[in-house]
Amino acid sequence: MCDYTVLRYNRGMLYPTVTLAYAQSLDGSIAARRGEHFERCGDAAAKLTHQLRAEHDAILVGVGTVLADDPELTVRLVDGKNPQIIILDGQLRCPVTANVVRNGGWIIGEWGAQRERRMNLEAAGGTVRLFSAENHQVPLSHLLTWLYERGIRNLLVAGGAQVITSFLRQKFVDRIVLTISPQYVGGVHALEESLTARLENIRVSQLGDDVIIDGEIHSK
Ligand SMILES: NC(=O)c1ccc[n+]([C@@H]2O[C@H](COP(=O)([O-])OP(=O)(O)OC[C@H]3O[C@@H](n4cnc5c(N)ncnc54)[C@H](OP(=O)(O)O)[C@@H]3O)[C@@H](O)[C@H]2O)c1
Repeated sequence: MCDYTVLRYNRGMLYPTVTLAYAQSLDGSIAARRGEHFERCGDAAAKLTHQLRAEHDAILVGVGTVLADDPELTVRLVDGKNPQIIILDGQLRCPVTANVVRNGGWIIGEWGAQRERRMNLEAAGGTVRLFSAENHQVPLSHLLTWLYERGIRNLLVAGGAQVITSFLRQKFVDRIVLTISPQYVGGVHALEESLTARLENIRVSQLGDDVIIDGEIHSK
């Protein structure tokens, strides 16, 4: 078993280690259409997802995933502690009624996001933190440093497409756990642009009908 809890020291800063975990179809789709939920995998693979949540200090998704799926992002199918929920949400579009807000999520927006949205999200149970945007995106290096300073040592990144692409493009991913569901979907792919990365020290397993590929990433 690999030890992924080592400190990540990169570009002179301390960051949490990052595991990217998502499910895709045989043709590489993570959703049938953007904004739609994808019935991803079987019961055993769903349990693995919850196990991964329990093993990480925090779980991060983009606001697109919250709007599409309204996920809970808690640990329910195995015993374990809930990770801190983190939502990348520049303009604070996350609904105040979202499960992630009720579950105490940290909502990461940009300076300039509407003050009223911030107040409403905080009144509903969320914590809002604003960063200076770079190209209209929350800068991941600043976010990861901030998370490390708050005791987050390992982070599970769970999608969607824009967030997966950002973390891979900026080479912040240490490990990938990919679930391949045996179906064709012909929908939205995980990567929004071409980039090169390769897995090493791979373990392949089968859970029910799903195939799991778990490996360390080697970006070129
Ligand atoms: N199969 C799976 O495992 C899986 C997992 C998760 C989601 N999904 C699917 O993926 C779809 C959602 O994906 P998506 O691409 O639309 O949305 P997303 O990646 O969940 O969220 C993207 C949004 O995050 C915000 N953001 C802020 N800073 C960012 C940064 N540095 N990098 C990237 N995003 C940043 C942006 O919104 P602002 O511009 O407003 O800031 C951006 O539009 C849904 O259909 C969902 O069902 C599938």
